[in-house]
Amino acid sequence: MKRRILLLLILITALPLGAQTIDDRVDALLARMTLEEKIGQLLQFTPGREDLRERVAKTGIGCVFGMGTAADINEMQRIAVEKSRLKIPILFAHDVIHGNRTIFPIPLGIAATWDPPSAELSARIAAREASASGIRWTFSPMVDIARDPRWGRVAEGAGEDPVLGAAMAAAYVRGYQGKDISSPDSILACAKHFAAYGAAEAGRDYNTTDMSEKTLRGIYLPPFKSAVDAGVWTLMTAFNALNGVPATANRHLLVDILRNEWGFRGFVDSDYEAIDEMRNHGTAGTPEEAAIQAITAGVDMDMVDAVYDTLANAVKEGRLPESVIDTSARRILRAKFALGLFERPYGDERREKAEHLAPAHLDAARRIAQKSLVLLKNESSLLPLSKKIGTLALIGPLADSREDMLGSWRAHGKAEEAVSFLEGVRATAGAQTKIVVSDGAAIDDAVAKARTADVVLLVLGEKGDESGEANSRAFLDLPGNQQQLLEAVVATGKPVALIVMAGRPFTITWAAEKVPAILWTWFAGTQGGHAIADVVFGDVNPSGKLPITFPRSVGQIPIYYNHLPTGRPEDLTQRYTSRYIDSPNDPLYPFGHGLSYTTFEYTDLKASSGMQAVTVSANVRNSGKVAGEEVVQLYINDPVASTSRPVRELKGFRRVALAPGETKRVEFTIGRADLAFWHEGGWKFEPGMFRVWVGGLEGKFELK
Ligand code: NOJ
Repeated sequence: MKRRILLLLILITALPLGAQTIDDRVDALLARMTLEEKIGQLLQFTPGREDLRERVAKTGIGCVFGMGTAADINEMQRIAVEKSRLKIPILFAHDVIHGNRTIFPIPLGIAATWDPPSAELSARIAAREASASGIRWTFSPMVDIARDPRWGRVAEGAGEDPVLGAAMAAAYVRGYQGKDISSPDSILACAKHFAAYGAAEAGRDYNTTDMSEKTLRGIYLPPFKSAVDAGVWTLMTAFNALNGVPATANRHLLVDILRNEWGFRGFVDSDYEAIDEMRNHGTAGTPEEAAIQAITAGVDMDMVDAVYDTLANAVKEGRLPESVIDTSARRILRAKFALGLFERPYGDERREKAEHLAPAHLDAARRIAQKSLVLLKNESSLLPLSKKIGTLALIGPLADSREDMLGSWRAHGKAEEAVSFLEGVRATAGAQTKIVVSDGAAIDDAVAKARTADVVLLVLGEKGDESGEANSRAFLDLPGNQQQLLEAVVATGKPVALIVMAGRPFTITWAAEKVPAILWTWFAGTQGGHAIADVVFGDVNPSGKLPITFPRSVGQIPIYYNHLPTGRPEDLTQRYTSRYIDSPNDPLYPFGHGLSYTTFEYTDLKASSGMQAVTVSANVRNSGKVAGEEVVQLYINDPVASTSRPVRELKGFRRVALAPGETKRVEFTIGRADLAFWHEGGWKFEPGMFRVWVGGLEGKFELK
């Protein structure tokens, strides 16, 4: 009783009489707004729009995105806060996808760290830098599962696995939004693109998707659910139609699942012109019809196409209740109040100067980049290179590129602030090493330079802006003349280490056979050149693992590790089994693959059985000569269930650091929820025996 009174007293003193909650403030403001002012809050423009300033002053605007500096942002904000009738601040947004000014590896590279704390740290730093300029919303993380490397946007996500994807999604949300969204260095995160965008047919961007509810729920939605559970404030819809219904007006996704099942309370943004594009999908005849469909499905904000302007007439003429507009405006205003935008609408030029490219940020970018690099192959330990090498040839179009280090979506990152691989090598190699360079455009020159060298580092791949949006490929060979260059350089007989910069897997089948060492570096960010050199010369032991399967050929796509079994599994001695007559089934490099300069040995796998949860544990020992980090991965298989289950599913992973000779016991807990699957309209857990693998060891457990 006494405790209750005490609690009540604390509550009363903490909430002074008349104190308003955010919802009270929103209601009070909404009550004063005209229909046009409410619709203004639903609109989102880029600064290039001609009538933008006029609109900001006249009705106010929900969001402006694509601006850079505090000076520019503040100038625009002043119009909203000083000239508009209700002084509602603009929410400034930007595509801060893998860093703001300090650029981190592309998200697929961050996923290759298998280290959610790295994702969180990169997002925290991005939030600090962006918020200093007045950007309080980012269109990140992209949490689309992607099983098709032809799709250029695989670069922007965490790859093919829902468990890894869900862990990364939550980490980004925590990083961007911080502990308290009202803190001046917190920004709203945006989980995108809701949903199934990564399943675009034929890997062609913006193409349609068609999938079962089981695959949607089990594979494509878990990272979104994880972002919502982590408290994400916003979602962006996808460009595609899902089973014939555009995601931008998909009530099943936006109402049934997002709002009703998951209890999401933030706001939903459309993608760029996607509302009006419903006319192209053939599900709306006019812009007004498209707008009504989108807003009634719960798309609160309209990106760029301004079709929500048509809603004013729709309300006035009785085709749409004003309450629908109120609901969306309320959600957007709630976010603005929660951010503290009404109290602190401006960017801070002094903080901007101090935060952008701060030494601690550059240091984090280098460390995270180091962890993202995946050593695919290392025959006779060609890598790491000795710092005493006499002559080193750096060959290839990407060998000295700063620009391409940044990858797609470099926000406010600048090429001149990035470190190319050549610069990284120059800073790390020994003083006596002679470095010869060729961009590989003239193959003869490259070959001549290779002949003079003791070791060749061949830096191939795609350009940074050839990954990401609208960069689908029908072929996954090394672009241009790079395969010829590779073959000519290898033909010199010199030891060649291939370094590939790319936003996706390539079908490097020839290289996998003929080149002794291959390091996959993604686009490693501002400090990429240093990070790659750190690994090439052995100052850092590589520890990245593939977050996506590498196919042998485009013909194998879609290829992903957690596929369903078939009634006729591949049997090379039997003709009528599930296989190709001209290719093996297995990938070139599987999901989870990645080598180290040391070796890890797994022993003593134990799996308990239980009712609610089981524990699985194993010893992992560094059995080599140098310190290293290993990503311990746990996979399960449910061999008999009422629906076919994937041949393997990742259920846990942990990064462990081990000194030479050191052993650690790693333990995982697997509960019923981890093993449940979507079946006949709901999540089902079916008790029974499960197979389990950790680091090549196999066991089993029973969960009753
Ligand atoms: C279109 C992209 O699909 C989306 O991811 C991005 O955030 C917006 N454009 C804004 O640039």
